[in-house]
Amino acid sequence: MRVLVVGGGGREHALCWALRRDAPDTTILAAPGNPGTAHLGTNLPITATAVDELVRAARAQRINLVVVGPEAPLALGLADRLRAAGIPVFGPSAAAARLESSKAFAKEIMTQAGVPTAAGRTFTDLAAALAYIGARPEPLVVKASGLAGGKGAVVCATRADAAATARAFLQEGKLGDAGREIVVEEFLNGEELSVLALTDGERTLILPPAQDHKRLGEGDTGPNTGGMGAYTPVGLTTPGLLERVRCDVLEPTLRAMAARGAPYQGVLYAGLMVSPLGVPTVLEFNCRFGDPEAQVVLPVLPRGAATHLAAIAANTWKPAERVLAPTAAAVTTVLAARGYPGQPETGAAIAIPEDLGPQIVVFHAGTKRDDAGTLRVSGGRVLNVTAFGASVAEAAERSAAACQRIAFEGKVYRRDIGRREIERARAP
Ligand code: AMP
Ligand code: GLY
Repeated sequence: MRVLVVGGGGREHALCWALRRDAPDTTILAAPGNPGTAHLGTNLPITATAVDELVRAARAQRINLVVVGPEAPLALGLADRLRAAGIPVFGPSAAAARLESSKAFAKEIMTQAGVPTAAGRTFTDLAAALAYIGARPEPLVVKASGLAGGKGAVVCATRADAAATARAFLQEGKLGDAGREIVVEEFLNGEELSVLALTDGERTLILPPAQDHKRLGEGDTGPNTGGMGAYTPVGLTTPGLLERVRCDVLEPTLRAMAARGAPYQGVLYAGLMVSPLGVPTVLEFNCRFGDPEAQVVLPVLPRGAATHLAAIAANTWKPAERVLAPTAAAVTTVLAARGYPGQPETGAAIAIPEDLGPQIVVFHAGTKRDDAGTLRVSGGRVLNVTAFGASVAEAAERSAAACQRIAFEGKVYRRDIGRREIERARAP
C-alpha cells in the first residue's frame, strides 16, 4: 500500500502515525508534511492546496490511497479530481464539503433534514440582518458563512455587538469573501462535544468522541484559537447520546446530501452543544478530522482502524460495528508559540528529550528543520503532546509533565486540558 497524506499539521502527523501503526509495511508520503511525518515516510514539497500538483504527484508515485487532512483542498475539489483520475481518496467531494465550507448551506441542509441546530437565519443584506438582530434575544452568535480558519464565529453578548459584527463581515469585508454571507443564530448553553464518524455516505462508524479546548487561557479564558488541547473519552457521552447523534444528526444529514446529488464520503465531524439534559444540537459540521481532536482520537482506535479509510475510499466498506470504543484515555496538550493566535513568534530552537516514555507521543504541527538540521518553531501551534493512561486524569498528568520537559523560547500551553472530565469523574 502506498498512501499519500495531504496536509502538514499535527492532525496529519497523527494520521501518518496511525497508518504506520496499523500497517507497518505501508509506504507513507505526506504533502507537504512536517519534521514529524518525515520520520514515518517521505515529505513531498507540495502545499496542501496545490490541487493540480497533488494529482500529478499521486499518479507519478503510484498512490493507492490519498487521505486529505485539511478542509481547504477538499473545498477546492481535490477529492473530485483524484476520483476522476481513478485514484482512491478518503475525503468528500467539493459539493459534499460545503457542509463545512458554507455554514449557510449546512443550515439549509439541517433545516430540510430536521437535524437539531440553533435557530437562526442567513443573510447577505446588512439591513435585513440588523432588523433580525434587533428582534432577537441576547446573547447572539454571528458567523461568517465561508471558511475562516476558526475566526468566523463570534459570540455576541449584546444585540449591539451582534450588529457591529454583522457590519464588520457584510459591509467592511472583515473576512473577505468568507464573510459576504452570514448566519445569525441563538446562543446555546451546555457542553461542547466533537463527534466524528467515518462514513461511505450511507453507513456510519462513530469514533470515540472528544472535547476540544478552544480558548487560549486556562479556565476557558482569553481569545478563541484553533484548539489548545483535547481529550477522550468524554464522560457525558452515553451510548444513548451516541445513538441519538447517529439517528437525529448523522443519518438524516447523509440522506439529505445524497438526495441533493452530493453523497458524503469521508469523516463527518459534528460539533455539538450538549444541553444539561443531554440533548445534542449541532453548532457546525466539519468535513475532516478535528485538529487537535485527531491527535487523541486516532491513537486510541483499535488496531486495524486505518483499514476503514482504505475500504471507504475503495467503495468496499462493510463495517462490522457502529461505534469504536477507545483503547485508552488520551489527552493532547498544544504547545503554542508566544503571540498565538495573533502573530506567533517563529524561529526558536526546540529541544525534545528522548526519554519522554512509552505513554507519550509528540506530534509536530508548526515545526521545521533549518539547513543545519535544528528543529525550529515555524507556526502558532508548534507541538501536540499526546499522553495515554487508564483515566483522563492520569493521561493529563503525563501530558503536562512532558510539556514541562520540552523546551523552546516563548512556549505557551494550558495546564488544565481535561479539567472538566477530571471534575466530572470526581463528582459524587
Ligand atoms: P463554530 O465555528 O460554528 O463551531 O463556532 C466556534 C465556536 O463558537 C464553537 O466551538 C462554540 O464555542 C461557539 N459557538 C458557535 N455557535 C454557538 C452557539 N449557537 N451557541 C453557543 N456557542 C456557540
Ligand atoms: N478543533 C476544532 C476543529 O478542528 O475545527
